[in-house]
Amino acid sequence: MSKTVSGFSKKTKEEKIDWLVAQYLDGNSTLKNTLKKYWNVDASLQNLHDDFIENTLTNYYLPFGIAPNFKINGSIYAIPMVIEESSVVAAASNAAKFWKDRGGFKAEVLSTQKNGQVHFNFYGKEEAIQSYFKFIKPTLIEDIATLQKNMQKRGGGLVDIKLKDSTQKLKGYYQIHCTFETLDAMGANFINSCLEQFAKTFEAQAQHFEAFKKSNEFPEVVMSILSNYVPDCLVKAEVSCKVNELANNGMDGTTFAENFVRSIEIAKVEPHRAVTHNKGIMNGIDAVILATGNDFRAVEAGVHAYASRDGHYTSLTHAKVESDTFTFWIEIPLALGTVGGLTTLHPLVKVALEILQKPSAKELMQLVAVAGLAQNFAAVRSLVTTGIQKGHMKMHLMNILNQLEATETEKKQAVTHFKKHTISHSDVVNYISTLRN
Ligand code: MEV
Repeated sequence: MSKTVSGFSKKTKEEKIDWLVAQYLDGNSTLKNTLKKYWNVDASLQNLHDDFIENTLTNYYLPFGIAPNFKINGSIYAIPMVIEESSVVAAASNAAKFWKDRGGFKAEVLSTQKNGQVHFNFYGKEEAIQSYFKFIKPTLIEDIATLQKNMQKRGGGLVDIKLKDSTQKLKGYYQIHCTFETLDAMGANFINSCLEQFAKTFEAQAQHFEAFKKSNEFPEVVMSILSNYVPDCLVKAEVSCKVNELANNGMDGTTFAENFVRSIEIAKVEPHRAVTHNKGIMNGIDAVILATGNDFRAVEAGVHAYASRDGHYTSLTHAKVESDTFTFWIEIPLALGTVGGLTTLHPLVKVALEILQKPSAKELMQLVAVAGLAQNFAAVRSLVTTGIQKGHMKMHLMNILNQLEATETEKKQAVTHFKKHTISHSDVVNYISTLRN
């Protein structure tokens, strides 16, 4: 056997594991058993997961938790979160409870358009490509009639197509910039299918266009793909209360509000802080995105591009105090789906969507934005009051104890001890070794 392999995807799962263990894991049977221990006993459930990707070997668990008590636009939600970081769900629950007693979260969808581009080269005369686009536009739209029939029936579909001259940025570079309404679907497949059809029609018909034939300069498509930058698919979430209602951890409301607003100002001007600040927001956002079977890579890429839209990377949240009222809000682009894709395949995603009362994509945008805002509130609140480590290490204690393979009795004793003592990794190690000696 060798470290390279051909026809790997055709092997059975067992054969793939055997090959891997022999070639990369020194035949270690413990590691092999670990891979197999995570197989689900329910064979049909396991098959479903095996088929999500190529070369599945096993499953990789992440905790699926719940953050209750979210009051959003007057209704109460329990928000499912999938995340491994110890303190995130606790922090979200805490922020939810805090704001439930101060009017709750308000959220609104500002826009819902997604977009994609056919990127092409054209080195001929500007007038020729302009007049070709004008000529071909109705045919482009006609040729996606079948593709968009169902989407149109539900009220969505193509919104507009435009020719965009990007030759100032890159010689000979043009785009057909397309906007879509995809309703409750994330719409990636729909958008990409439409774009590929546009590209086909666009290139094929160009062969018969007189001006191109005369100059022997034809447009050549480079690629057709949706964009994960969706600045016209925006949602806003907000909380507000009187400053004196913010008194916190021994800090009066005015001081807390001042420190809080200042921390946002810092994140606005200093990218080092902004990235960490926004990472805290994404702790909440990604956890809900994962639980609801959406694409967190797409959301991450789009959100961070939005955070840099003015040419420098900045905070995604904003805060102000006006007339004794503290207001804290977020505005982010989110292209989400509650139908299609994993939402109809993954049993736990179905449960998550049921917990959220079967939201539309617009409702899910609101819930996700709220989760991000809540997470940011919890993080910044800790940072400007007690510091982050107190809460974080409290939640992390159990991980350290598990690393040390503490018994149930040792865990109980450690939890009691560290209620009164600051937690650090070395202190926990020392405490357990003292117990054991
Ligand atoms: C840790 O996962 C997230 C924080 O660093 C966020 C922040 O600093 O605002 C606590």
